[in-house]
Amino acid sequence: MKDYIATIVKNEKIAENIYAVTFDVGEDVAVRAGQFGDIALGGTRLLRRPIAVCKAEKNLVTFCYQLRGEGTRELKELGAGTRLNVLMPLGNGFYVEENEKKVALVGGGVGVFPLISVLRAYGGAKEISAYIGYRNAAAVCGTEEFEKANKFVAVTDDGSYGEKMNAVQAFEKDLANNRPDVVLACGPTPMLRALKAVTDKAGLACYVSLEERMGCGIGACLVCVCDKTDGKKARVCKDGPVFNANDVLL
Ligand SMILES: Cc1cc2nc3c(=O)[nH]c(=O)nc-3n(C[C@H](O)[C@H](O)[C@H](O)COP(=O)(O)OP(=O)(O)OC[C@H]3O[C@@H](n4cnc5c(N)ncnc54)[C@H](O)[C@@H]3O)c2cc1C
Ligand code: FES
Repeated sequence: MKDYIATIVKNEKIAENIYAVTFDVGEDVAVRAGQFGDIALGGTRLLRRPIAVCKAEKNLVTFCYQLRGEGTRELKELGAGTRLNVLMPLGNGFYVEENEKKVALVGGGVGVFPLISVLRAYGGAKEISAYIGYRNAAAVCGTEEFEKANKFVAVTDDGSYGEKMNAVQAFEKDLANNRPDVVLACGPTPMLRALKAVTDKAGLACYVSLEERMGCGIGACLVCVCDKTDGKKARVCKDGPVFNANDVLL
C-alpha cells in the first residue's frame, strides 16, 4: 500500500451519471481484482472516497464512479493534469481457487466496476459468465469489457436494454444450464442478500464485495465494521471488502 501522488490523464463520462478517471501514478502498480483505492479530494473534504480499481495497467489506474454526493461531483470537474493523493491498493480482493474453473460474476449498480477487474485478471484462464444489472439503457457501461467473458447477460430494471429483470434473476434463470464452481458478486446489499438465498439453495460457493461507508480505509477507525455470522465484527476496508457470503450478515 502506498499513498501515490497521482496525475489525472483522463476523466470522462461513460454513461448517465457515471464517469471513468484514469490516473498516472508514476510507476508500475500491482493490484489484485477487487482491491480499491482511497482518493483524497483535498479542500474541506477530510475523508477520502473509496473506489474500486477497475483497471490497472503498468502506471495507469482507472476508477469508474457514479455521481452520488459532493465528493464524486467535485471529482468529475477535475481535468487532465490535476494531481491527487490516491492510497492503494487496499483490501483483500477476489481470489479464485485453482480448482474453480467456472466463475459467475453477478453485479449491479457500482458493483459492476470491481467485476471488470476480475474479468481482466481471470479471463482466458477461467470460464467466466457475467450477469450484470443496470438501472436502464442510459446507465449501461463496461460492455466492451464484459463481452470478453464466455457469456455476458446484461439486464435492466425497466427492460430498456436486455430483459427486464435484475442481475440475480438473470443468474438464477441460467443456473440449471450453466452451473458455476464459484460466484463472485458486488452490488447493493439487498441484491447480495437475494443472491445468497439462491447460492445457498443451489449449494454454491459465493463471495461478496461489500461497499460500507468508510473513514480511514486502512483498518484504524472502525467506521466500516460489519457483523459476522459468528457474532464477531469485521472491518470491511481491511478484512474485506470481499467476504465469503456465509461469513457475514447481509
Ligand atoms: C470498497 C468500496 C468500493 C467502492 N467502489 C466504488 C466504485 O467502483 N464506483 C463507485 O461509484 N462507488 C464505489 N464505492 C462507493 C463510493 O465510495 C461512494 O459512492 C462515494 O464515496 C460517495 O462519495 P460522495 O462524496 O460523492 O458522496 P457523499 O456525499 O459522501 O454521500 C452521498 C450519498 O451516498 C451515500 N454513500 C456514500 N458512500 C457510500 C457507500 N460506500 N455505500 C453506500 N452509500 C454510500 C451516502 O450515504 C449519501 O446518501 C465504493 C465503496 C467502497 C467502500
Ligand atoms: S474505514 Fe477505518 S477501519 Fe475501515
